[in-house]
Amino acid sequence: MNRDFASIQALTGRHVMQTYSRLPLALVRGEGARVWDTEGRQYLDFVGGLAVNSLGHGHPAVTAAIREAADYVLHTSNLYYIGPQAELAARLAELSGLERAFFCNSGAEANEAAIKLARRFGRRAGGGRYKIICAANSFHGRTLGTLAATGQPKYRAGFEPLPEGFVHVPLNDLPALAAAIDSETVAVMLEPVQGEGGVHPCLPDYLKGVRELCDRHGLLLILDEVQTGLGRTGRLFAFEHYGVRPDILTLAKALAGGVPIGAMLAREEVAAAFEPGAHASTFGGNPFACRVALAVLDTIVGQDLPAKAKEAGDYLRRGLERLAARLDCVSEVRGMGLLVGLELAGVLAPRVQAEAQSRGLLVNAIGQSVLRLLPPLIVGRDELDEALEILEAALAAASN
Ligand SMILES: Cc1ncc(COP(=O)(O)O)c(C=O)c1O
Repeated sequence: MNRDFASIQALTGRHVMQTYSRLPLALVRGEGARVWDTEGRQYLDFVGGLAVNSLGHGHPAVTAAIREAADYVLHTSNLYYIGPQAELAARLAELSGLERAFFCNSGAEANEAAIKLARRFGRRAGGGRYKIICAANSFHGRTLGTLAATGQPKYRAGFEPLPEGFVHVPLNDLPALAAAIDSETVAVMLEPVQGEGGVHPCLPDYLKGVRELCDRHGLLLILDEVQTGLGRTGRLFAFEHYGVRPDILTLAKALAGGVPIGAMLAREEVAAAFEPGAHASTFGGNPFACRVALAVLDTIVGQDLPAKAKEAGDYLRRGLERLAARLDCVSEVRGMGLLVGLELAGVLAPRVQAEAQSRGLLVNAIGQSVLRLLPPLIVGRDELDEALEILEAALAAASN
């Protein structure tokens, strides 16, 4: 199991399907915001497993919950009642205001469930309506349904024909969304902040306007908070920034601190469109993942990590803006809380990512010109200062 990097790379090259362009690095240990690779080198982790490790690495609450959960049944089946699943659903209902939950194992599955629920709702309550309006540049997952919802042609190429019934409109353009509504539309599906698409937040008036349009036309508002949910943006749910509540909400990534889980929450009246047999998942809502998720939620809420993420995110963005004022190669700083994007002038992102990595900081290049920063919500001031210093050196080196 404890191989050196060269042998991990060789084995991956021979036997793992080549669906990922991987960076030359294998991480084996983590503590808080820091990780160590196979060669013992240390990094500040501002990727956080792509918004999964919100509590950082080796958090005592997560470790204790995993140990404790191992003493109970790991898996039974949804043939039977599952105590921790019921408790997690109740906790999420109390926190989100959405009364019912369906559990699965990933973000794509949560969104697939949301799409299926919206279609069922449309067939039952909506006279056969099934179309879903999504945003250009969005990302909702890699199943055929969620790919059809995803507004980035590069992910869809070669997999057509995709399920029909998805319409894409530019983000933050309310008239375009209004014009796309027809008699077959059942829902609007959006990320409050497009993460994978390059860190583009919905404007405050836009999401409010979308909610009003949905209410006026009897449409469901589906918010994909797989990346933004659970404190990342400075509120427990990003929708709280906008003063709106969705009819359907999807969560995954941070929910069980690295143990796979996804959740699709819905209002009672909408959830009623699913009856026994309508949807299922063998692993969904298993006792192990649910126990860990309950511990993660207790920590996020109990320690008010959304407020800490806001404070840390404001501090980080102020530092990045100072940096942008000094360096021509940074053209914009965007984001909310600790979901931060840096727009670079030119095709610099992969080079900055590599320069930062060689200096002990992990950041994520999205395409050629955006850097995404996703530090854990527990990140400290000193770690933010250290990251800013490394980033400045990496940007300078990459633009030379
Ligand atoms: C907003 C959003 N939705 C859905 C997904 C898909 O989640 P998963 O990779 O767990 O299927 C992602 C993953 O990055 C995401 O950011």
